[in-house]
Amino acid sequence: MPRRTDIEKILIIGSGPIVIGQAAEFDYSGTQACKALKEEGFKVILVNSNPATIMTDPDIADRTYIEPLDVDILEKIIAKERPDAILPTVGGQTALNLTVKLAENGILDKYNVKLIGANVEAIKKAEDRELFRQAMLNIGMELPKSYTATSLQEAIEKLKLLQDDEYYYKYFGYKLPKDFKPTKKSSPFPVIIRPSFTLGGYGGGIAYNYEEFKEKVEYALECSPIHEVLIEESVLGWKEFELEVMRDLKDNVVIICSIENFDPMGIHTGDSITVAPAQTLTDKEYQILRTAAQKIIREIGVETGGSNIQFAVNPKNGKVYVIEMNPRVSRSSALASKATGFPIAKIAAKLAVGYTLDELPNDITKKTPASFEPAIDYVVVKYPRFAFEKFPKADKTLNTTMKSVGEVMAIGRTFKEAFLKAIRSLEMKPDTPIFEKLKNISLEEIKKNIAIPNPFRVFYIFEALRRGVSIDEIYDLSKIDKWFLYQLYQIIELEKELSKYKGKFLEDLEKDQKFIKLFKLAKTWGFSDKYLAQILS
Ligand SMILES: Nc1ncnc2c1ncn2[C@@H]1O[C@H](COP(=O)(O)OP(=O)(O)O)[C@@H](O)[C@H]1O
Ligand SMILES: [Mg+2]
Repeated sequence: MPRRTDIEKILIIGSGPIVIGQAAEFDYSGTQACKALKEEGFKVILVNSNPATIMTDPDIADRTYIEPLDVDILEKIIAKERPDAILPTVGGQTALNLTVKLAENGILDKYNVKLIGANVEAIKKAEDRELFRQAMLNIGMELPKSYTATSLQEAIEKLKLLQDDEYYYKYFGYKLPKDFKPTKKSSPFPVIIRPSFTLGGYGGGIAYNYEEFKEKVEYALECSPIHEVLIEESVLGWKEFELEVMRDLKDNVVIICSIENFDPMGIHTGDSITVAPAQTLTDKEYQILRTAAQKIIREIGVETGGSNIQFAVNPKNGKVYVIEMNPRVSRSSALASKATGFPIAKIAAKLAVGYTLDELPNDITKKTPASFEPAIDYVVVKYPRFAFEKFPKADKTLNTTMKSVGEVMAIGRTFKEAFLKAIRSLEMKPDTPIFEKLKNISLEEIKKNIAIPNPFRVFYIFEALRRGVSIDEIYDLSKIDKWFLYQLYQIIELEKELSKYKGKFLEDLEKDQKFIKLFKLAKTWGFSDKYLAQILS
């Protein structure tokens, strides 16, 4: 399909101020989208309250408004500019929420503005937990079981219901899943608490007992703008995956990238170390997620553009739950774009104005069209950057509320190389697997810090491996997939081998064939010069 000719002027809503947990990545996606639309000859109107962004540079859009992002101001801009369409999916959650409000207040109808990319129904279906549940159950996808509550009293009642799986399906009027086995749990804990309509998991948490439950529900109710919480079955310790999906108007669907979370469910993807492509799925398991993602984007009805879908996979039996779908470009799509060279926001903008994936060239290959799924022969590791030194009183335990302030990305031939590169890209101490501070800490303390997720957990794992703690035991404590733990184990094994050469003279080492072999291996695994110096000097 050629470029649409029924629209000429497109409004793009930015994401406003940069706050922890969101926004900087939307400058990247918004800028890409503006450029892509201008390239196609559209007139681009941009609104963003944040002048410290690339997208508000004078030559990125045809007209730029640096104004507060609220409905009244947007209505004034729409009245003045009379855009034909809004592209709501490249400015993060702020842009999506504002677009829904503009539609609900009748402003889009009044000024005859079309939505391109995703319509209001699709946005709501993905964002409203209740509508999302119905949509998923309709296509036979399962989610963690959950109930909503608007008071502590109701939350306590719903907590009891969570113990009865069969009742859940009756409650929502759905057929039991095919492989259903009735289970009655002896305890409802741990349980996940999530306030409705907050971002980045804000106000949510995990309760392990009644005391915590009451405290956390009350706090969550306070955080929710509509005073509502979700009481949800926990799948802590399951493996977590994300798929970046794109769809065009001809209903072609491609998976740009699969991302695996090194940290299991229970740690926000924004705070997890993540790896692209997924490393521990069999082809069959990957195909199950791929097919599910295609079904989901179609059911939600995102017409064009990129979406991010999160899954949990039970490591014991491969059972898949859908966790959420973001019907827009996201932090993960920025990562997936950089990891694969497939510019998701740019392509999303072009799909929104009528092009189809088979008509757009792949930026990297130049020859193949964008309808081919990228395949990468390297590994990308994203490592979150925390700044707890700036918030000394904050609880450093990682959970379902995002706490990181940024991230680094590293590319390597292997997971090990990318992982070690990522650690040193953080520009913080320690920047190698050796963390001096842990040398004199008790084993008990080390294990505690592996069981309770925190920003330095991998360094505790390295130390445990050094002291001979088995992969099985570390798995039991952390639920980090054993394949990843084995990679860390191999790093420590090589470290131990190399440390046998500690203090030797260079002249001798240069002649030692065994040493040279180990040294080369260390280099291909991404050992930095500093790390080698720590081991050898
Ligand atoms: N039922 C659950 N059990 C355990 N962990 C969960 C559950 N649901 C979500 N999580 C964790 O919480 C994180 C945030 O949840 P998500 O639904 O993705 O919300 P957000 O909109 O904040 O991204 C997820 O990345 C996952 O690790
Ligand atoms: Mg999420």
